[in-house]
Amino acid sequence: MPPMTAPLRHFLQLADLSGDELQHVFERTRLIKDRFKRYEFYQPLRDRTLAMVFEKASTRTRVSFEAGMYQLGGSVIHITTGDSQLGRSEPIEDSARVISRMVDIVMIRTFEQAKIERFARYSRVPVINGLTNEFHPCQILADVFTFIEQRGTIRGRTVAWIGDANNMAYTWVQAAALLGFTLQVSTPPAYPLDPRLAPAGAHLKVCDSPLAAAHGADLVTTDVWTSMGFEAQNEARRRAFADWRVDARVMAAARHDALFMHCLPAHRGEEVTAEVLDGPQSVVWDEAENRLHVQKALMEYLLLGRDVA
Ligand code: CP
Repeated sequence: MPPMTAPLRHFLQLADLSGDELQHVFERTRLIKDRFKRYEFYQPLRDRTLAMVFEKASTRTRVSFEAGMYQLGGSVIHITTGDSQLGRSEPIEDSARVISRMVDIVMIRTFEQAKIERFARYSRVPVINGLTNEFHPCQILADVFTFIEQRGTIRGRTVAWIGDANNMAYTWVQAAALLGFTLQVSTPPAYPLDPRLAPAGAHLKVCDSPLAAAHGADLVTTDVWTSMGFEAQNEARRRAFADWRVDARVMAAARHDALFMHCLPAHRGEEVTAEVLDGPQSVVWDEAENRLHVQKALMEYLLLGRDVA
């Protein structure tokens, strides 16, 4: 009997899944990770193909999606702007129509969110956001799963975001509303949250300093001061973000058992000190590994729905 196929769903931002669906993905992640650690064969995506489109560099996203799809029994095609017609102005709509007739699922890392949305509109198969300027939903899946693994539920907890108002921050904003926790954010005054991506709400608290944001937090998290695509702003950002560094003083403002996360790659001595990144509260290596497990659960959900073993 051919494997079941789920109705077409995309994962272009975290809010494309409901809180209940996210809980399902986290439960499946636990199971899929346990099986993987026991070397149990689990290949529900045999004969399925993932196309990965990268318009920006990657280590974790590439390795986790590629390894994950092979482990689930499928195969992978890796496309970049430089080695495909995408870099030679073939319209996104045409690329989407062609690629999605040949594969079962697509992961895209690109610049503007509008680009991945255009691709998805013309795709016959699920499209996953592997990072855009606005959102990084696969990373937040891994971060929330890591928190659950370490501390139990995230509902009712407090997460501190310190640093840039970037794709990670905006995805944390969505996670807080969907999963019921408080997000305390502190960014430099010249780099505030964009209210279109971070609408005011009970789950979002904007703070005037990193210490205020970290106060009472169960998790402190940050990211590089300059995201990919914004390198021209590097020097100005270095000056503006100098006081938005997660160091021992910031961690001391959080709960005594607070975790530290960073999506990586990190710049020790810039957004986080080596003492924190490599210290006992840091779970960044589990966080990175969990990209593999959550994305396997995500691909399983988008392709097979809940009808899984
Ligand atoms: N965190 C993350 O997305 O890492 P890569 O840029 O290496 O994929």
